[in-house]
Amino acid sequence: MSQNKPQTQYRDDYQPPLYWIDTLDLDIDLDDSQTEVVAISRVRRNGDHNEPLVLDGEQLALLEVAINGLASEQYEQTDDKLILPSVPQEFVLTIKTRINPAANTALEGLYKSGDAYCTQCEAQGFRRITYYLDRPDILARFSTRITADEQAYPYLLSNGNKVGQGTLDNGRHWVQWQDPYPKPAYLFALVAGDFDLLQDSFVTRSGRHVALEIFVNKGNLHRAGHAMDSLKASMKWDEERCNLEYDLDIYMIVAVDFFNMGAMENKGLNVFNDKFVLADANTATDDDYLDIERVIGHEYFHNWTGNRVTCRDWFQLSLKEGLTVFRDQEFSSDLGSRTVNRIRNVRLIRGPQFAEDAGPMAHPIRPDAVIEMNNFYTLTVYEKGSEVIRMLHTLLGERDFQSGLSLYLRRHDGRAATCDDFVAAMSEASGRDLSRFQRWYAQSGTPVLTVRDHYDAATCRYQLQVKQHTAPTADQKEKLPLHIPLSMALYSEQGDAIPLVCRGQSRAEVLDVLDAEQTFVFEQVPSRPVPALLQGFSAPVKLDYPYTDKQLALLAKCSGDEFVRWDAVQMLINQAVRDNMAAASQQQPLVLPQTLVEVFRTLLEDHELDSALQAEMLTLPSVSSLVELFEQVDIDALARVHEHLGQGLAKALQPLWAKTYERLQTPEYLILHQDMAKRALKNVALGYLALAGEETVVDRQYRQANNMTDTLAALDAANRAGLASREPLMADFEAKWRQDGLVLDNWFRLQAMAPADDTLEKVGKLMQHPTFSLANPNRVRALIGAFCAANPVQFHRPDGTGYDLLVSVLEQLNSTNPQLASRLLTPLIQFARFDPPRQRLIRARLQQLMDKPDLARDLFEKISKALA
Ligand code: TRP
Ligand code: ZN
Repeated sequence: MSQNKPQTQYRDDYQPPLYWIDTLDLDIDLDDSQTEVVAISRVRRNGDHNEPLVLDGEQLALLEVAINGLASEQYEQTDDKLILPSVPQEFVLTIKTRINPAANTALEGLYKSGDAYCTQCEAQGFRRITYYLDRPDILARFSTRITADEQAYPYLLSNGNKVGQGTLDNGRHWVQWQDPYPKPAYLFALVAGDFDLLQDSFVTRSGRHVALEIFVNKGNLHRAGHAMDSLKASMKWDEERCNLEYDLDIYMIVAVDFFNMGAMENKGLNVFNDKFVLADANTATDDDYLDIERVIGHEYFHNWTGNRVTCRDWFQLSLKEGLTVFRDQEFSSDLGSRTVNRIRNVRLIRGPQFAEDAGPMAHPIRPDAVIEMNNFYTLTVYEKGSEVIRMLHTLLGERDFQSGLSLYLRRHDGRAATCDDFVAAMSEASGRDLSRFQRWYAQSGTPVLTVRDHYDAATCRYQLQVKQHTAPTADQKEKLPLHIPLSMALYSEQGDAIPLVCRGQSRAEVLDVLDAEQTFVFEQVPSRPVPALLQGFSAPVKLDYPYTDKQLALLAKCSGDEFVRWDAVQMLINQAVRDNMAAASQQQPLVLPQTLVEVFRTLLEDHELDSALQAEMLTLPSVSSLVELFEQVDIDALARVHEHLGQGLAKALQPLWAKTYERLQTPEYLILHQDMAKRALKNVALGYLALAGEETVVDRQYRQANNMTDTLAALDAANRAGLASREPLMADFEAKWRQDGLVLDNWFRLQAMAPADDTLEKVGKLMQHPTFSLANPNRVRALIGAFCAANPVQFHRPDGTGYDLLVSVLEQLNSTNPQLASRLLTPLIQFARFDPPRQRLIRARLQQLMDKPDLARDLFEKISKALA
């Protein structure tokens, strides 16, 4: 680790590379502590200059440098660079280095996941494998030779096609891979190990045969089928919806158990967190199945949006991530329920993404300044980035959007591009002026749309006045008006849709809000209407419109748009929460609004509605997402209100919950959307029955469940409601699954989320559980991550001991896995919404971390911003 103060990189400082690298031949001789890497590249000067060649490299032992085959001493080394002061115009560079994969706990570069070797090179991990121009605008043709012990590592994998293999006389063997597509180093991958292999194939629309291979840890073959189905569905979807075919003869996926993120789109050789591959009815929930489909899709879709066309520099990350998230969301929506997918994505934006905007790490989807790139794989870049693409889709329509995408891919194929290039292609293909829209890439923060209306009965005119305002964020003071697509509809008080008419013409539902203040006038409106605003969450903004409960109840019941119905219920709940906060802070009695009860009743009795959608509508938002409703929150009062509403709804509608629960039994376990929908609603009902104290139903479901969805739903219900059976059920689950980390993560998560006052002490003890390990990111996220992010009341205990727990974990992870540490830190830096005494406690803890002499850049960046 460098002792120097971490440096900020700025987007505006981008310079084209001084040298190009056209080919890279790697020869990697694997050994736990002494892996040798020979990297031979063809280097070419870019333009006319005498600047040195400066290569990136970290934690490498340099053994040899040669230019055109001749060993050279003409170089300088720093902490993280290899500098060759004078090199020929074009030459062959040979670099030999040694690395220590067994000691690599950061899970970046080449490391060991259990008994296997694997790599993670995005964003800047390749520099931990060899010295290189480790930037995404350097695209080279890679060939890779891997050598390892044949018994321990029968599979030796890398990108592209296998072009040779052989055995050596010392028990070792080698395989040679060649990737025909030029790629940046972050897409390089190597895997070596002994796996179970699931094989299948796919014939592309043009008739090319593609071998599909999924590698999983031994004994898990029966858990790879859903991932394979999802892969084939992804390939088909991209052909049908986006006209994009796969381009190599083989597509490999490897599932590993030590992984910092979800998965990685390395060309032809994806590496996955096993959480997003392994599933069977006994061990995975319905949501796990959906997550696998989504992540397999996401990585597959990167093959075009990310790999064939990549990013010029890391500030452009949303170019590939926002677009690919949009594509995976569309994939999931086309295969399952569009509304349910939309609701889940909107929850992510309104909760954690809005919180990011309001915190010290606020940044535009295309950041301007970065200290540690790993800190910018954020909800803003990914999820808000996808919302920006979705707005383009809303503005352009499917046809023009698809032509824009084709134009972009054709124009930049095989090269590195920018967000501006993408918008330019969209604008050209559609003929639309997107200059104001482009501000979404540059401006951070959450705009607030304030809408007020006026109805004139005499003229039958209805006027909407729309104001937009974005408050200053930590990173940016000045804000400009944005191009905001505002989708809306009007309803009569009887719930009938009123056609939109402007200047005598019927008009579309999407209004172009462009200015700080704008007025829209609708004619031929027969009576005072109820507006449905921001239909489908047509823009990532907060809406301020003074809805009455009666109007919301009408929208919840009558709107033709399912999303609007859900959103109306959300607004009703939010209103009930706000109305109770003062009383809760003063320990006074709370109320349960009758309108809310009646809306819930109507929804429960509406058997026409998709059960999955009903389940979403009847689920109360989490306490942590409700924090976003307040400038300053009394977290204990908020939790009391939340509990009051939950129990109130449980008891007021108890017979209906019971009836719903009984009606939705699915005796056989099938992974079909309509069955998942039934289970979802049934388990929401179970949650309310538990809150009403119906312990026997919960116990019965736990004992009789034939699948993990129902098992965990019962555990979760007992856990949240604090039922007496919680302890025996949790003990039973642990005894059954203690050998399987992935399954036990659910148990760690529930333990961490328990509302009980001794949860903190339990979490501390569970860190000693034989299956827990700080070295495994999945375990850490399940126990520590869930406690800090999803149990705000216990984490924010007024004595500060919740913070102490996190800080002690961070102090350890700071040196072993800073990337993981930095992600866990988020709830601590988002302290602005909490009360001054808690803020003081948090600041003191952050200062304590800041004073660490060896603080990793990842943590430095976030903590210094939080304390500023
Ligand atoms: N590009 C990957 C994806 O979103 C994510 C990724 C970025 C990643 N950096 C990583 C995965 C580090 C693992 C480790 O698809
Ligand atoms: Zn991605």
